[in-house]
Amino acid sequence: MKIGIIIGSTREGRNGEAVGKWVEQHAHAKGGSDYELIDLKSFDLPLFTSQPLPMMAYKQYDSEAVTAWSRAIDACDGYVFITPEFNHGVPAALKNAVDSLGSEWSNKSRALVGYGAVGGVRAVEQWRQILPNFSQHVVRGAVDLSLFTDFAEDGVKTSDVKVQGLNGMLDELQAAIRRQGA
Ligand SMILES: Cc1cc2nc3c(=O)[nH]c(=O)nc-3n(C[C@H](O)[C@H](O)[C@H](O)COP(=O)(O)O)c2cc1C
Repeated sequence: MKIGIIIGSTREGRNGEAVGKWVEQHAHAKGGSDYELIDLKSFDLPLFTSQPLPMMAYKQYDSEAVTAWSRAIDACDGYVFITPEFNHGVPAALKNAVDSLGSEWSNKSRALVGYGAVGGVRAVEQWRQILPNFSQHVVRGAVDLSLFTDFAEDGVKTSDVKVQGLNGMLDELQAAIRRQGA
C-alpha cells in the first residue's frame, strides 16, 4: 500500500511544506504503509487548457509536466491532501492539478489536512464535494491546523490532540485503502 502526501500550495514561502513534513514524520512513525511526499510545486504544472477531457485521455498527455504528475499520482493507492484555504475555498493550483488528470484518481481513498486562519475547514469541506466525482472515498477524520496556534517559526508545533487526530485519520485511510483492494 502506498499513500501519497500531497503538498497542495505552490506559493513562495508557503507553510504547506512544513505541514507536509509534519504529516510525513508522523506517518512514517505510524507505519502500516509506504508514504511518499509529493510536492505539487516541483511539477510546475501548466494551467489546464487541453482539448481532450482528462478522463478520456487514458493517461496520455502532451505536456511532460502533466505526464510526470500523472505517473506520481497513478503510483499511489490513496492520498493525504495538504490543503490551505484561499478566500474561503480550495486553492486554485491544487484544483487545477486535480482537474488535469482523470482515471489516475479513480476509485482511490483520500484524507484531508487543512490549515489556515481558521484551520482550512472550509477548503476541506469543499474538497468533500469535489472528490467524489472520481468515485473517491474521503475519510471522515480530518486535521485542521490554525496559523495562530499550531505553528512555530520552524514548522508545525501543535498539541497531542492534533497528533492523535492525524493518527486516527491515517488509520481510517489505511482501512479504506484495504477495502478498495490494495
Ligand atoms: C490569497 C489568499 C487567501 C486566503 N484566504 C484565506 C481564507 O479565506 N481563510 C483562511 O482561513 N485563510 C486564508 N488565507 C491564509 C492562508 O490559509 C495561509 O496564508 C496559509 O498559510 C496558506 O498556505 P501556504 O502558506 O502553504 O501557501 C489566505 C491566504 C492567501 C494567500
